Order: sequence, then structure tokens, then C-alpha cells
Amino acid sequence: MVRSILSPLDFSVEELDQLMDLADDIIRDPAKYAHTCDGRILATLFYEPSTRTRLSFEAAMLRLGGKCLGFHSADSSSATKGETVADTIRVASCFADIAAMRHPKEGAPLVAASKSTIPVINAGDGGHQHPTQTFTDLLTIRSLKGHLDNLTIGMCGDLKFGRTVHSLIRALVRYANVKFVFISPKELKLPSYIRDDLLIQNNIAFREVTKLEDVLPSLDILYMTRVQKERFFNEEDYVRLKDFYILDKKKMNLASPDMLVLHPLPRVNEISTEIDDDPRAVYFKQVKYGMYVRMALILTLLNIKPE
Ligand code: NCD
Repeated sequence: MVRSILSPLDFSVEELDQLMDLADDIIRDPAKYAHTCDGRILATLFYEPSTRTRLSFEAAMLRLGGKCLGFHSADSSSATKGETVADTIRVASCFADIAAMRHPKEGAPLVAASKSTIPVINAGDGGHQHPTQTFTDLLTIRSLKGHLDNLTIGMCGDLKFGRTVHSLIRALVRYANVKFVFISPKELKLPSYIRDDLLIQNNIAFREVTKLEDVLPSLDILYMTRVQKERFFNEEDYVRLKDFYILDKKKMNLASPDMLVLHPLPRVNEISTEIDDDPRAVYFKQVKYGMYVRMALILTLLNIKPE
């Protein structure tokens, strides 16, 4: 069976290091990689909206010399005719060498991978996992902080529905002396399968708080997230919670001069644009790291090395 990436844990810590080393080498010398995927095709099968992730995958493949095809909403695919994910991936396997799939249903990329003859990359499945965002986040932290261990990481916003948070926690618990501070309204706390089954079971240090101001000075990283409107069951709850946190200049004054602010984007109101020029705000740099790590991932899964 070909190798697919459905969760960040599909790579060991060592393999992740190799992936990030490869991304670093691509950053250093992009010309060396510009034709490594000549003649290869990436299929982007997106059943749920995306700007960054899809464009990032496409940019990654194009910069490696490959080509892309695909669809960017369920409405423009045969899903509207009732085609299953299993059949769509069988068809895509005839056209492409590798596929990235985003789906609103948890587990859909897993089903696809089990039927696919090409590597499938989970580009986000419901509230579940988003491994390539995690690789992006890890590469951003490793590049800008120099290490992934010995960090106090604050995660703020929608910790219940945010798949980027769920994936990142799973990846970070594998590094030594990582401490978490989870900042959310009580309605949007971490699901128990992460809090109890992962963190408590493994004796990982964490705190859960509601007020961002209280913990800001202690953080090395602040990972902000948007309240996930599309996963709410009623509009009223969303409206009540959507502006619970707004990171602005005043709050940034409480943080350490070395703290980095990450956000998977899209941002709504949770980060004021007034901090965009603060050198600690690295969410746009993070987007660029995302493209490089996806280039590294495509090469790894296709088992391609530069000449
Ligand atoms: C995230 C996602 O899709 O989960 N976006 C992304 O991939 N960069 C975060 C979000 O939508 O809030």
C-alpha cells in the first residue's frame, strides 16, 4: 500500500525532523528542487472551502515543476450526484500521482486512503485533524525559536472545534518539557478525548484558563484560532462567542518580547490588524513555511530526491 498522511503522528519525530530539514534545504536552494516533480500531477480534492491550504498545496506542486488539477467545493464535484469518496479517489488515482483531500466529515480521507493507489494527504477533516497545518506550525516554531522542546505554548480561542489545535497538541506532546496553557470560554474547551485521554493519561503539564491577560507574560508561543462558525449548531452561540478574544496592542504589551503569535488563518476578529507589524506576529511568515513544508511532504511521499 502507498503511504498516506492522515494524522501528524503518521510521521515519527525522526521523520518529522527529516521533513523539516528537507523544507529548510528547499528554502536555502529552491532552484535545486524546481524540476523535481516535472511530469507529476497533484489532485486537490476539496469538499470544503479553503484558500490557504489549497493554494499552498498547488503552489508547492507548481514550484516543484509539477501540475495540479482538482475541485474546490463539493458542489463542483460528482459528490452532488451521490458519488462516494471511495469512488472519487479511485478515479483521481487514474489521473494524478498524489492527492490532497479536505472534507467536512471526520475520517473521509482515511476512507479515501484505504481505496487509493496514490498517496492521500489529509488537508483537514471536520473538527478532527489537519496534519499539514501542524507541519507548518512546527516548522515555523523550529525556524523562529530554534527548537520544539522546552516551550510554554498558549492555545487560545475555539479549542473544541479547531482541528489545527487538536493536531498540533498531538504532535507537540512528543517533545520534552512542553507545557500547555489552554485559553478558551468554557463552551469551547478542549474535547475530553484530548484533555483526558491524551494529556492527563500521559502526564502532560497543562492549565485551562478563560482570561488571556493573566497568562500572556508566561508564554513562548501564542497560537490564536478563529471560532469555527461552520461547526456550530446554532447561530446564537456563535454570535455570543465569536469576539470573546481580541488580541490587540494593549494585550501584546503584557507579553514577552520573544513571544511569537501564530494563527493558522483565516483570521476574523481575534487578532487586531494593529499588531500585524509587531515583529512577534508571525502568521504571514507561517503561511510561507506552510508552502515549503508541503513541498517537502510531496517529495517525501513520492520518494523523489533532487539529482
Ligand atoms: C484552518 C482550517 O481549515 O482548519 N485553516 C487552514 O487550513 N489554514 C483553520 C480555520 O479554518 O480556522
